[in-house]
Amino acid sequence: MKFAKFILCSLGAVVFSLSAFAQQDKPLNIFLPKPHTDVGKPFMQVLQERKTTREFGPRIINEQTMGEILWAAVGINRPNGKRTIPTSRDSQDLDVYVLQQGGAYRYNPINHSLELVNPSILTYAAAKQEFVKQADAVLVYVSSNPEREVGGMHAGSAYQNVALYAANVGMNNVVLRMIDMDTLHKELHLPDNEYILAAQALGWPVKK
Ligand SMILES: Cc1cc2nc3c(=O)[nH]c(=O)nc-3n(C[C@H](O)[C@H](O)[C@H](O)COP(=O)(O)O)c2cc1C
Repeated sequence: MKFAKFILCSLGAVVFSLSAFAQQDKPLNIFLPKPHTDVGKPFMQVLQERKTTREFGPRIINEQTMGEILWAAVGINRPNGKRTIPTSRDSQDLDVYVLQQGGAYRYNPINHSLELVNPSILTYAAAKQEFVKQADAVLVYVSSNPEREVGGMHAGSAYQNVALYAANVGMNNVVLRMIDMDTLHKELHLPDNEYILAAQALGWPVKK
């Protein structure tokens, strides 16, 4: 009898740990690989190829590429901690969130890592246009700059860097203002002083 009880308890413990594991399948932190800064097309060719393409194939964006996209957006590019984009008074107040099937993450430029903010799939809030549903990732640009026009300038620098990175590697991108900003603000748990400026859908072309 004691033995049967022991077996039942052990089985219960295994089932409990498996279900706990299933709920925690989204990593809280993803440490991204260092960006490769010594490869790429000639800069003038990159400018020539920068464009909006509203079409995405099924290929997944891997961690190396995602790390390079985010580093291009707001990464640290010098030992003094300054960024790939200029910011007014060096305020460094633009945050980038990534919406993917794996959930919503905030990019931490200091650790070059992603931090889970919501395990739900939030791309629906960005997908007011049908093509966005095919994108592998959607970046969301969030500012806390008290002057909204300055916040907008920072976001513009970041999405242009990402668009140029996309042209460099042959990825498709679309800057988006047609998104559900209120839902995203709530689901990303943003405080009242932070506001969303734009999003950017990203994915590989249909044939690549
Ligand atoms: C601030 C901003 C907001 C945009 N919003 C959207 C959008 O919500 N949906 C969309 O399909 N394209 C959007 N675009 C993309 C523009 O339509 C696109 O850049 C324009 O048609 C010029 O095309 P090009 O980028 O290929 O030069 C946006 C672009 C910018 C800069």
